[in-house]
Formats: sequence, C-alpha cells, structure tokens
Amino acid sequence: MPLGNSAASRDIAYHLHPYTHLKKHESDGPLMITAGRGIHVFDDSGKEYIEGMAGLWCTALGFGEQRLVDAATRQMQKLPYYHIFNHKTHEAAAELAERLIALMPVPMSKVFFNNSGSEANDSAVKMVWYYNNALGRHRKKKIIGRLKGYHGVTVAAASLTGLPNNHREFDLPLPQMRHADCPHHYRYAKPGESEEVFATRLAESLEAQIQREDPETVAAFIAEPVMGAGGVIVPPKTYFEKIQKVLRKYDVLLIADEVICGFGRTGKMFGSETFAMTPDIMTMAKALSSAYLPISATVISEPLYRAFVQQSEKIGVFAHGFTYSAHPACCAVALETLKIYEERDILGHVQRVSPALQNGLRRFAAHPLVGEVRGIGLLAGVELVKDKATKTPFDPKEGVGALLQVRAQEHGLILRAMVDTIALCPPLIISADEIEEMLRRFGRALDDTAKALAETGLASVA
Ligand SMILES: Cc1ncc(COP(=O)(O)O)c(C=O)c1O
Repeated sequence: MPLGNSAASRDIAYHLHPYTHLKKHESDGPLMITAGRGIHVFDDSGKEYIEGMAGLWCTALGFGEQRLVDAATRQMQKLPYYHIFNHKTHEAAAELAERLIALMPVPMSKVFFNNSGSEANDSAVKMVWYYNNALGRHRKKKIIGRLKGYHGVTVAAASLTGLPNNHREFDLPLPQMRHADCPHHYRYAKPGESEEVFATRLAESLEAQIQREDPETVAAFIAEPVMGAGGVIVPPKTYFEKIQKVLRKYDVLLIADEVICGFGRTGKMFGSETFAMTPDIMTMAKALSSAYLPISATVISEPLYRAFVQQSEKIGVFAHGFTYSAHPACCAVALETLKIYEERDILGHVQRVSPALQNGLRRFAAHPLVGEVRGIGLLAGVELVKDKATKTPFDPKEGVGALLQVRAQEHGLILRAMVDTIALCPPLIISADEIEEMLRRFGRALDDTAKALAETGLASVA
C-alpha cells in the first residue's frame, strides 16, 4: 500500500499528475518506479515489469543506455546551456539539424527545435498561419485534424486532437480547427466495404468538408501515420494516397505528426515512408532522444522557409522560439541516439522482430473478449468488446480496459488502456524472446479479465 511510503504520501500531498483520475489518486496513490534496465522497470518493492509501452511510446533504446548518459554528461561539462536566438548557435544544434535533414524521407529544408510533441505541433500551426500571411492568403487558416487523432495538449495541439476529453471543460477547440473522419475500418466501414472502398469514401468526405468550409479558408491537414492515443489505428489501404490527392487539389498543406511513428516504430525510419506520405511539415519528438531528455523538432519544406525569410525581412524578425529550443544536452543526446540507431541497425532489428509481436498478438484474435488485433512494426492495439459478433463495445463506465491494465501490471507488464483498446509499444530494442514473454503476460491478464467479467456477469466469457 503506497500510503505508508513517505515518497508516495508526499506525492499525493503536493503533486498534480497529468492524465490521472485525481480523486482515485488521492485514495490509491501512485506506483513508484525507481529504476530501469533494458525493457524493464522496477518499483519500490523491487518488482520487475516489462515496459510494454516504452514509457509513453518513447523510450526506444530502453532504460539503461549508458552512451546516452555519457553524451549528456560530456555536453553538460562543456556547455550546459546556450540559446539559439539572435544568430547564436552551438555545435550540437548545428550537427543535429544537418543530421535530421539528411534522414528526412522527402526533401526538407530546415529544422526548428522545441521541447515536446505538443510544442512541435503548436509551432507547425503557427508556421502554417505565418506562411499563408506571407503569401497574402489571410483567410486560408483552418486546420483539419481527425476524430481520434492525438497531437498533444497545448492550446493548438489539443484543439487538433480529436478526443473529447482534451476539449471538454478546457474551452477548446480553437475556432480555426476542424476534424475529419476517423480512418478506422473495423469500427466505421460499412458492412462488406473493403479497405480501399472505405478509403475512397473518407477521401470524398474530406473533399466535401473542404468544399463546405470553402477551400480558400482551409490551410492544412494534420495526421499521424498511425494514430496512437486514439487507439492504435492503422489507416486502411490506399488512404493517404487518396487523401493527399484531395489536399493537393485544394492547395492544403500536409503536416505529418511523426511523434510516435518517427525513428523506426513502423519498421521504416518514418511513418511517412511506410504510408507514402509527402508532407510539407513533419513533427517529431519522443524517440528522437529515446526520451532521455526532452526535445522535439518541426521540420519544414523549402517553400515554407522561403516565405518565412520574406516575412521576417518585412517584420524584422521571425518571432517564435523557446528558451530551451535546441538545448545543448538534449541535442547531444539526440545525436547519440541517432548514431546508435544507425550503428545497431535498429530499423533492421524492428523489421526482424516485429512479426513476433504482430503474429503473436493475432493468436489472441479468437479470444472471446477480443474484437480486433491491429498494428504494424512494434506498435499494436487490441480492442476489447462485449460482443464479438456484433462488435458491441463495453460501456466505458465499466472500465474493462482499465481492469486489464491493472491485471497486466499484477503479472509484471505495463500497458496502456485507451478506453477499451490496449496499446503495446515496447522499446525498439526488445528481442523476439522478450516479445514472447510480454505476450505470455498479456495472455494471463486477458484471461483474468475475462474471468472477472464472467463473475460479475458483464460478459459471458471465461
Ligand atoms: C502523435 C503524438 N503527437 C503529439 C504528442 C504530444 O507530445 P508531448 O506529450 O511530448 O507534448 C503525442 C504524445 O503522446 C503523440 O502521441
């Protein structure tokens, strides 16, 4: 019981937690994580867990990468802080920007550094507005996100997020933001509709939406290659090809939110490669530094940069930036992370071990609680349903996903329930054997959940 633990009780007394049921936290207290090694973390009782979510979809190299610690230490000793405003820079920032541009899957021009995924997306929004003002298109300002898309929690990013809890009682979304259909075939396709036909319908619906809004007012469309927090939703076949045709027709920019997919998660360096996207802006964070220090990037194409140059000449400055943009220690850690990805062929590793996750997880598809197993690379989601045949979901108040999350934790596996979809997103360094062990623990948690539901009469499964 954590209340007897002094650190836990201080936490309850003084700490306002993000994404937490605050009342429940007061009574139940936190899980105190004290150490990490490889794909594992340990709590204050010494219990070991497989971190099946790589923290928050981010610790790509696991929890004990000494080279990242050393890179941070070296940089802190040499130059612990400097800024990049007003024509200043430092070596790590210059080198990281060059390295990132070389990695981009489509021609890109410049890198802008922020500290988080949300900030990267807020920067992208401001850049889209700045760009269209530079071109004299003062009405072309609306940005379309998607229902169930997740782009963060700052004011613009949360507005683009298509999840009700990020808007409710926060007075969001902003009036310029819109949401298009969610591309989830299992949930939203018509009976018998193929992925391709569903994708055509979604593209037609987007076109109709742009026409309704007036194309002269629509500036950009933002999309995660694979939706993460909305429930690990892999787009249907041909989706981005058809969506991009519509965007090009109406001169609407594409922002690829690579915050989860970037740096190998889907088996290619970027999700944009996996799904043949040609974005004008790419945002990235998380695995950029394996999350050892906070850093994110907003990468822009040459036409945007040219317009910014013109505009800043007129105004006298490009007045956007953060005190910690390109923090030297964060840049040094990101550079070392990218070096490790290359030296250890992390992409090749993900391609080799991801079938163990994707095929292994699909053996649970027949389980009575499982509606759909989906995913790509080292990213997967398992959607739990009350009735498999009719795809009827559980009432969210029943908290079935949360129950499985607790049971998994008891079995030494940290997962994340997004309502009733359970996400798996392990560190990219996970081995095939470790994936097997993760799936064994998942299977136990699934059976426990089914048993508990059968006992309470919520589902007729055992
Ligand atoms: C796709 C995506 N974009 C943006 C964000 C926001 O990133 P941050 O929490 O670093 O602000 C997240 C966070 O999970 C994300 O998954």
